[in-house]
Amino acid sequence: MSRTVVITGATSGIGRAAAREFAGRGDRLVLAARSPATLAEVRQECRSAGAEVLVVPTDITEPGAVDELARAAVAEFGGIDVWVHTAAVAAYGRFDELPERVFERVVRVDLIAAAAVARVALRHYRSASAGTLILTGSVLGHITSPYMSGYVAAKWGLQGLARTLQQEARETPGVHVCLVNPGSVDTPVYRQAANYLGRIGRPPPPITTPERVARAIVHGADRPRREISVGRLNVVMRFGFTVLPGLYDVLVGPLMRVAGLSNQPVAPHDGIAFTPNPAGEAVRGGWLPDLSRVVRSVGGATSTVGSAVLRRLR
Ligand SMILES: NC(=O)c1ccc[n+]([C@@H]2O[C@H](COP(=O)([O-])OP(=O)(O)OC[C@H]3O[C@@H](n4cnc5c(N)ncnc54)[C@H](OP(=O)(O)O)[C@@H]3O)[C@@H](O)[C@H]2O)c1
Repeated sequence: MSRTVVITGATSGIGRAAAREFAGRGDRLVLAARSPATLAEVRQECRSAGAEVLVVPTDITEPGAVDELARAAVAEFGGIDVWVHTAAVAAYGRFDELPERVFERVVRVDLIAAAAVARVALRHYRSASAGTLILTGSVLGHITSPYMSGYVAAKWGLQGLARTLQQEARETPGVHVCLVNPGSVDTPVYRQAANYLGRIGRPPPPITTPERVARAIVHGADRPRREISVGRLNVVMRFGFTVLPGLYDVLVGPLMRVAGLSNQPVAPHDGIAFTPNPAGEAVRGGWLPDLSRVVRSVGGATSTVGSAVLRRLR
């Protein structure tokens, strides 16, 4: 049976991949983010997959904006069955060098606005006695890393909020709250992040795809669970952080500098913290090799080597 699915953060990365995944299943979609032009592109992608789509340009930090979004969804489709919240921003920088306004904006978008989304969704579900809210946390809601203080603080807060909401939702059978915690994902978030560190961030390996996280989200909508972790090293990192904190702290700084930061220099900037950057929005971030290109170049190299060997044999 098709459902009405609201996605906040639908123009890029995991949210955009989730929109495509739900569209392919015939669900009705209400897509929100700040950039109207990119929302129109995603609407086209999802319509091509056969879905009915409403787009509602929304800044989730604006007072009343999330209520307006829910009202638009109900007016168009009669209700909301699933709300997937992926909208977030990140910022790189030493805590003492990151402007206070940037730190506060990251916490505002990633925690306070996520709470606003949860409040609106859960009020709607409570009156309907049914519905699933899927929040997107991070493995950084369980562990910590230097140079991402605002993001880490917000994701730890979101983890606590989600667990509290799950306990309260026990009073309303039919209402579910699910937290999806990805590890490293190949999305634009790293280049779109505010940066006061001087080097562009990158996803440390192993890197997974936004499509894989999107499938986990759809699975969570089908069979809600308390937490869905997506990332091969998530468990190992959580174990190290909890059981061997001294060793973890010795290793995490050098590992972050080697694997979590690229060598590309960058001047200080606010990224998409305050305003969207449609030019930087896409499903993938370009950190994983394009498989079709790899296959083509491996194929090309193989045929070149093969021809050279044949020439020698002749
Ligand atoms: N990529 C990873 O490695 C990774 C790892 C762990 C967790 N996560 C989490 O996964 C989720 C999705 O991340 P992603 O990597 O897909 O990021 P992304 O590609 O940068 O997408 C972020 C989305 O959030 C929207 N957004 C940002 N600020 C907004 C605001 N004020 N109001 C409404 N929408 C806003 C953006 O659209 P506009 O700018 O147009 O508004 C965009 O659609 C986030 O919660 C992130 O923390 C990602």
